[in-house]
Amino acid sequence: MGFGPVRQTGTLMNDFHSFVLGDRTVNRLGYGAMQLAGPGVFGPPKNRDTALEVLREAVASGVNHIDTSDFYGPHITNGLIREALHPYPQDLLIVTKIGALRGEDGSWNPAMTPAQLTSAVHDNLRNLGLDALDVVNLRLMGGGAGHGPAEGSLEEPLTALVQLQKQGLVRHIGLSNVTSTQIEQGRGIAEIVCVQNLYNLAHRDDDALIDHLATGNIAYVPFFPLGGFTPLQSSTLSDVATRLDATPMQVALGWLLRRAPNILLIPGTSSPEHLRENLAAGQLSLSESVLAELDTIGKSA
Ligand SMILES: NC(=O)c1ccc[n+]([C@@H]2O[C@H](COP(=O)([O-])OP(=O)(O)OC[C@H]3O[C@@H](n4cnc5c(N)ncnc54)[C@H](OP(=O)(O)O)[C@@H]3O)[C@@H](O)[C@H]2O)c1
Repeated sequence: MGFGPVRQTGTLMNDFHSFVLGDRTVNRLGYGAMQLAGPGVFGPPKNRDTALEVLREAVASGVNHIDTSDFYGPHITNGLIREALHPYPQDLLIVTKIGALRGEDGSWNPAMTPAQLTSAVHDNLRNLGLDALDVVNLRLMGGGAGHGPAEGSLEEPLTALVQLQKQGLVRHIGLSNVTSTQIEQGRGIAEIVCVQNLYNLAHRDDDALIDHLATGNIAYVPFFPLGGFTPLQSSTLSDVATRLDATPMQVALGWLLRRAPNILLIPGTSSPEHLRENLAAGQLSLSESVLAELDTIGKSA
């Protein structure tokens, strides 16, 4: 389907380094906390102290946008965030997501009934130690392995989330793993401040959607910005990184920052070294010719 007009959601000017998400200005380089749970995003981390260190160092380095969910662990990642950072700095925006429950075997199961969504919001509030959640993404399960969207109405679950917003438990609403049709449907039901879908140098299904959302200052937050469980591998990416004296992951993040002004990054890592490396990507300068070279990766993927 075509894209309809997008409402303006930002009231402040966005610049290259920051973006207004909901009603808060965040640095475009944030942090995704999913990698802090145990293997398969299930159970406790391998090293609890290192997980806490990563969170504290991220915030001390200027990260003020952290992405999480109570189904990471489950409950583990939110507990770590609370232990590391509560009471939270005033400018810290914690974005969470609801719509799934973990089985005892670590499986990811849809949990989209109004009762399940209400309970998920309360789980997030309790485990993060908050009275209200800044931004909640309604995460649809989609098709295939669950990392791609599938068409279907989101009216019932989104209406339930709006009810929780009206109760003051949720400040802003986003959508995750959704199609452009579902975003249009969602925008008829609620103000949508962000969209979180799979996107990176090699997976560019959302190119047109990103540009469309940019016209209305709606944030696009790619998940798997580094390729996710199988980090990106490309000879072009490695060649460019070598020439720039950077790492492939830094180039991948630098490319995303240049791709569109409404892209906010939440690279995930459980390692302080990788965190530092990823945050330094904000200083990387990419010429037009390098950007064009990197563009070929998505075209050949
Ligand atoms: N809405 C959704 O459905 C959804 C789905 C998935 C994820 N997310 C969110 O998106 C965030 C980002 O996605 P992600 O964490 O799955 O994937 P990602 O950021 O694309 O990649 C994370 C992987 O890359 C590795 N890595 C990170 N920095 C690195 C570096 N500098 N050099 C080498 N390897 C590096 C990590 O391992 P190390 O730990 O060893 O660094 C981890 O294996 C998540 O944390 C989560 O908050 C949302």
